[in-house]
Amino acid sequence: MNILVIGSGGREHALVWKLSASPRVQSLYCAPGNAGIAQQARCVPIAVNEIQRLLDFALEKSIDLTVVGPELPLTLGVADAFRAAGLKVVGPTRSAARIEGSKAFSKEFMQRHGIPTAPFGVFTDPDRAAAYIRGRGASVVVKADGLAAGKGVVVAGDEAEAIGAVNAMIREKAFGEAGARVVVEDRIAGMEATFLLFTDGKTAVPMVSSQDYKRAGDGDAGPNTGGMGAYSPASVLTEPVVDWVVRKVVEPTLSGLEAECGGYQGILYIGLMLTDEGPKVLEYNARFGDPETQVVLPRLETDLVDLFEALSRGKLDDIPVRWDSHATACVVLASGGYPGKYRTGLSITGLEEAGKMDGLVVFHAGTEKKDGRFVTAGGRVLGVTARERDLASARKKAYEAVSRIRFDGMQYRRDIVNKRCLVEYVLSADRLVTTRFY
Ligand code: GLY
Repeated sequence: MNILVIGSGGREHALVWKLSASPRVQSLYCAPGNAGIAQQARCVPIAVNEIQRLLDFALEKSIDLTVVGPELPLTLGVADAFRAAGLKVVGPTRSAARIEGSKAFSKEFMQRHGIPTAPFGVFTDPDRAAAYIRGRGASVVVKADGLAAGKGVVVAGDEAEAIGAVNAMIREKAFGEAGARVVVEDRIAGMEATFLLFTDGKTAVPMVSSQDYKRAGDGDAGPNTGGMGAYSPASVLTEPVVDWVVRKVVEPTLSGLEAECGGYQGILYIGLMLTDEGPKVLEYNARFGDPETQVVLPRLETDLVDLFEALSRGKLDDIPVRWDSHATACVVLASGGYPGKYRTGLSITGLEEAGKMDGLVVFHAGTEKKDGRFVTAGGRVLGVTARERDLASARKKAYEAVSRIRFDGMQYRRDIVNKRCLVEYVLSADRLVTTRFY
């Protein structure tokens, strides 16, 4: 088969890496890809928002299956365009991708379908938003409605900060049109976990559990980032919690998407907060997580081409999806200054040495090749991922590999798979009860 992956980050490298292991792949392309991806796929210089060029390329190369990594092309209708041309694609329609593309749509959707989430309000008038914030008497989170490259969420420390965020988004247009409308929601406390699933709209197959680290610094200090590391399995997602999420979140979400958007086909990411009142949905994403993909796909035993092909034909129930019992840990190596300003073009050493380790793979997120050598080309540069028999061994191996890699200003968290995050819950009468601290 001829396969096209759209995107250029660590998530897409993990997808390409896994797809390239399938004997069914004849040609594998990635648009636009990166220098690491180029080790397994032919990179094509087409940006993810150039929908017509992507389609023209897919038709010219007789692409049999396209896998969409990031949200932007989905919200621009890439899946609609490809399906209209008779091409198979893994990813939801533009209408269904609003579940990620519009925070207001997503929260109102949850409300309409009785899906547990934090109380919220939607505003285009900054004065009304400010009055709502003053009336909540609780700390709030302010979110730009549209896509804002992962930057449109402010977890406010107090009322003044929340109102400042509203003004920056609506009055000062800090995120352009994406912030013309905002969601203000109560800040809820608990443990975060990622629930990813494959779905063809009828059948939903949960992936193994994972957890990511969104803050830049150890102990969850510092600003929010795209994700500084992840591990799998996430022990907070015990079997009863997973069953609960399937019943109370996945089933109403998919039936709601069927009723309102004509169905959903692709990957659904459900960001959960496990609170004392039970799991609540923080957000949906219409795609794989990054860096969750880097820890989930190495545990997949089923051929990913078989799986995606069945999904795109609406026959996901034909495929037994198998996972191995190993654990994985991914440590993201970022440029100094990320998520703020950072330098690029810095030489990376030690990749070959780290790559020789058994059960270790270095996924590239932001790299280029210059004079035959890898150099940095983004905020998140690499995702050093280890697969081992348990989490402690995976963590040890990942950090051992990290110690072999160098570039100027390299920053990373030292607490991926730390003890504080390993807490287990069971559900009792639909309430979460803490059962174990490691
Ligand atoms: N890791 C968070 C995300 O992919 O949105």
